[in-house]
Formats: sequence, structure tokens, C-alpha cells
Amino acid sequence: MTDALHSVRLNTGSPMPLLGLGTFRLRGPEETQRTVDAALTAGYRSFDTAAVYRNEAEIGQALRELLPRHGLTRADVFITSKLGPRDHGSRARDACQRSLEELGLDYIDLYLIHWPGTQALPVEDGRNPANRAQSWAVLEEFYRSGRFRAIGVSNYTAEHLRQLLGACEVPPAVLQVEFHPKLAQRELRAACAQADVCFQAYSSLGTGLLLSDPVVLEVARRCGRTPAQVLLRWAVQQGVPVLPKSCHPSRVQENSQLFDFELSEEDMARLSSLDCGEKFCWNPSSVA
Ligand SMILES: NC(=O)c1ccc[n+]([C@@H]2O[C@H](COP(=O)([O-])OP(=O)(O)OC[C@H]3O[C@@H](n4cnc5c(N)ncnc54)[C@H](OP(=O)(O)O)[C@@H]3O)[C@@H](O)[C@H]2O)c1
Repeated sequence: MTDALHSVRLNTGSPMPLLGLGTFRLRGPEETQRTVDAALTAGYRSFDTAAVYRNEAEIGQALRELLPRHGLTRADVFITSKLGPRDHGSRARDACQRSLEELGLDYIDLYLIHWPGTQALPVEDGRNPANRAQSWAVLEEFYRSGRFRAIGVSNYTAEHLRQLLGACEVPPAVLQVEFHPKLAQRELRAACAQADVCFQAYSSLGTGLLLSDPVVLEVARRCGRTPAQVLLRWAVQQGVPVLPKSCHPSRVQENSQLFDFELSEEDMARLSSLDCGEKFCWNPSSVA
């Protein structure tokens, strides 16, 4: 279960839960409703969506229906969404407004630039930095007006982050990137720690592919937990927020059981020794 103890404090002063529900590939009102219901029951209070997931409206609808049934209000949950790569630059203002409307919310707790590059531009195109700078200025505008309570970025490299920190008026609160034992992201984590940017993990289960890794299975056997719990615990034990996705209520529940056990130093080290820079998702390192 999440509670006030299981959160991180962002540089805005607001808490963000260490555990959130990932919603990439959650589709259709029934699946969304069932999964959000299971998540609220299991104690999740954070939900991660994005314009490109095309489920903002369904997430918003599910929360409107389910929060009262769980005795909760809008203020009890933390909603993240993201600006799609096709909406960088001059399209950003309309896209930010559209996310609010799709979700049916007056404010979004955290809004991220999803990707440093602009869709349809070559990755090396020199217009990418200017476009994302223009998008950031729009996110700052929505932050100042209270429509976004925190703003941040996703899939930025240390160099993209350095450029942003050097030019922004409002510093990013969060960097959301792929993170699991095979991709420990040491340079990025150090850059975030130095700049007081919260480092947040996505694809902590390696999109599911790490669940059968022999070392993960060995640690899971030793501590009597499931491979998913071991992978998620490895991150939260380092203070890194996670966003596991499942559309199965029993797995949603399983993935929430992270705060009633600890991995030993040896098991943490054993998992960390898997780091080899392997990515299961996309690689932003060539985006100008
Ligand atoms: N910012 C970005 O660019 C970005 C990129 C990727 C992801 N994300 C966010 O992070 C979230 C999580 O990442 P992800 O969806 O890529 O991958 P993930 O959470 O690492 O893994 C999800 C996969 O693992 C399976 N799974 C989940 N829990 C399980 C369990 N306990 N036992 C067995 N299998 C389990 C799921 O299948 P079932 O659904 O069938 O259970 C799904 O196939 C996304 O949903 C999204 O919100 C952000």
C-alpha cells in the first residue's frame, strides 16, 4: 500500500508516490475501469498516462467514476501525462490544453515532455533543440497558471537535461526514463541528484522481459517474493519511483506489495551487477 511514507518530495514541494500505475497499452473503457479499480483497491494513488497512449479520456472517466466509490477525491491522486513528440513547438499549447480536456481535469499533477525530438524530423535535425525549448516555455506557462502542478521531461539524456537546466526559468521536477538492473543509468541519476530533479523509472520489469532473468529468479526464490516484486523493490529501495503496468488485477495487486520487505545488501548488489546498459525501449541518445 502506498501512504505518505511511500512518496518522494519534488522540488516543487509536493509529494509524488513511489508507486504509480503505468498505463501504456491499457485500452478500452472496460479494461481501463477494471485496472484502475484494482489499482485503487491495492493502494495506488498515482497514474501515468500520455497523449500518445490515447487513453487519457478513459483514465479520466474511470477516475471520475471510481474515486467516490473508493471514498477518495481528486486531491488524493497524482496524475501524470505527457506532451507527444508530434506536438512540440508551435502545437504545444493546444496539446497541453487537450490533455487537460481529455482527462477532464482542472489541473494535472505532473506534465512531461515525452521525447526530446520532434516527430517527423530526423533525429539529428538542428530544429529539435529549439522545438523542445519552445515546448518547455509552454509547460512553464501552464505551471505558473496552476494548470500543471509540476513539469518535467522524459527520455532526456544527460546532455538534453544540461541544455534545459541552462536555459529554463522553471527547472524540471522529474526525469522519467527506462531504469532496471540491466540499465542502472548512473550518469543520469547523478545529474538528476545534482540538479534536484527526481529520477523516475519506467519499464522497471524490462517490459516483462526481465521477469525470467536467472538472477532475478534466484533473488525472488531466496526472499520468497515474486520476480516483479524483486525488480520493483530494487528501484524503490534506492528511492526511485516506479510505474509498473499490468492489465491483470492480480498482478496490479502483486506489484503493489513493495513496502513490507527489504532486499539484503547482497541481493541489491547481485541485481545491480546485471547492469550492462541494455535497453528494452527506445534510445534517445542520437536526438540532437
Ligand atoms: N516515458 C516513456 O517514454 C515511457 C516508456 C515506457 C513506459 N512508460 C511508462 O511506464 C509504464 C511501465 O512500463 P512498461 O509498460 O513499458 O513495462 P513494465 O511495467 O516494465 O512491464 C509491463 C509488462 O509486464 C507484464 N507484467 C506486469 N506485472 C507483471 C507481473 N506481476 N507478473 C508477470 N507479468 C507482469 C505486463 O503484462 P500484463 O499487462 O499482461 O499483465 C506487461 O507486459 C508504462 O505503462 C508507462 O506508463 C513510459
